[in-house]
Amino acid sequence: MHMMKMKMNPQFSVWGLVWLWMLFGISASTRRVLINFGDSNSDTGGVLAGAGLPIGLPHGITFFHRGTGRLGDGRLILDFFCEHLKLSYLSPYLDSLAPNFTSGVNFAVAGAMTLPQFVPFQLDVQVRQFVRFKNRSLELLSLGGSGNFINQDGFHRALYMIDIGQNDLLVALYASNLTYAPVAAKIPSFIAEIKLAIQNLYESGGRKFWIHNTGPLGCAPKELALHVHNETDVDSVGCFRVHNDLAKLFNKGLRRMCKELKQALKHVTIVYVDIYTIKYNLFATPSKYGFVQPFKACCGSGGPPNNYNVKATCGQPGYEICNNVTSAIVWDGVHYTEAANRVVADTILSMPSLKLDRFWSN
Ligand SMILES: *[C@@H]1O[C@H](CO)[C@@H](O)[C@H](O)[C@H]1NC(C)=O
Ligand SMILES: *[C@@H]1O[C@H](CO)[C@@H](O)[C@H](O)[C@H]1NC(C)=O
Ligand SMILES: *[C@@H]1O[C@H](CO)[C@@H](O)[C@H](O)[C@H]1NC(C)=O
Ligand SMILES: *[C@@H]1O[C@H](CO)[C@@H](O)[C@H](O)[C@H]1NC(C)=O
Ligand SMILES: *[C@@H]1O[C@H](CO)[C@@H](O)[C@H](O)[C@H]1NC(C)=O
Repeated sequence: MHMMKMKMNPQFSVWGLVWLWMLFGISASTRRVLINFGDSNSDTGGVLAGAGLPIGLPHGITFFHRGTGRLGDGRLILDFFCEHLKLSYLSPYLDSLAPNFTSGVNFAVAGAMTLPQFVPFQLDVQVRQFVRFKNRSLELLSLGGSGNFINQDGFHRALYMIDIGQNDLLVALYASNLTYAPVAAKIPSFIAEIKLAIQNLYESGGRKFWIHNTGPLGCAPKELALHVHNETDVDSVGCFRVHNDLAKLFNKGLRRMCKELKQALKHVTIVYVDIYTIKYNLFATPSKYGFVQPFKACCGSGGPPNNYNVKATCGQPGYEICNNVTSAIVWDGVHYTEAANRVVADTILSMPSLKLDRFWSN
């Protein structure tokens, strides 16, 4: 085989390298990648792909006009973050048909908890899936794969988001007949799992973390409908005290853990995002945000006050949808409406320290 001998101008090749370096350096440094872990608050189709749970219409009715696997009438807080960053919505890791990982990847699955470990799709499983995902992405890239893989730099600069804990609290609450002490005793073990997740992601090269605290579980129409209560069980707004006191205790521990890790880990950014206060304000002053009847599920059955019947929940025979979804805070008794998620996302993004863009500014 005849090989053409080519004499390269050394100056050209150096400049060629610099040019290539600049091209990839710049495009890599401005590339924004979100890597998300959690439960239904941020599940963009994980439980549908992973468990085959048929979450179809009326979920998705407001925006996607089809079942995407999201629990809610439309976009989630995470979807609004993606829009803000001009990213496409995140594909679930488990999506086997034409996923697109250009913008990042979503490991969140509805129902996920921190404990027990080794059960699909708890937080520790999601983190192990991530380790596998990263390894495999880099392997495919090294084999010359093109496609929409995230590269080493993308993983390094990615923002790692976690929103989990509410299902641990609820399961523990049910197990204790809504008594405070037994649930409070379990909270440190939930926080320890989230800490472990951050540490493991840090070990894998993650440096920027965005941690959501948990919302006011005691304001959910489902909780109010399922558990008989009197005036002393609820606060001045109308939310279950025991749920919210435990959510606040969990959040206090989560915040402290984030602070500790910030000091213990080198070159790390850990942002603790106070979802609780933003969501609680929706219930406390609904009219300020254009919402009415805060404790009434939009999609469900049974009528006032909660429109929640465990035998005919949203999507099951007998359900009805409220006239104006944009004036409802809660969609199906548990999950928030797109309108509420938009307010939450906008409120977060209006805070200078929480401007998402700044995580890729250097
Ligand atoms: C994946 O998403 C990116 C960003 O939205 C888009 O530019 C690209 O065309 C998509 N790739 C495929 C194969 O759809
Ligand atoms: C990561 O990938 C390498 C090959 O590139 C393989 O040898 C190793 O076992 C993988 N590790 C994990 C945890 O997947
Ligand atoms: C919870 O209440 C139910 C019914 O009142 C009772 O049968 C059960 O023993 C209680 N469980 C606990 C852990 O107290
Ligand atoms: C309300 O219910 C709780 C139990 O959930 C009970 O301990 C309390 O005495 C009740 N208060 C009133 C005013 O009935
Ligand atoms: C629905 O509710 C929103 C928010 O409260 C309000 O702005 C809008 O006018 C309502 N639409 C209808 C048709 O009532």
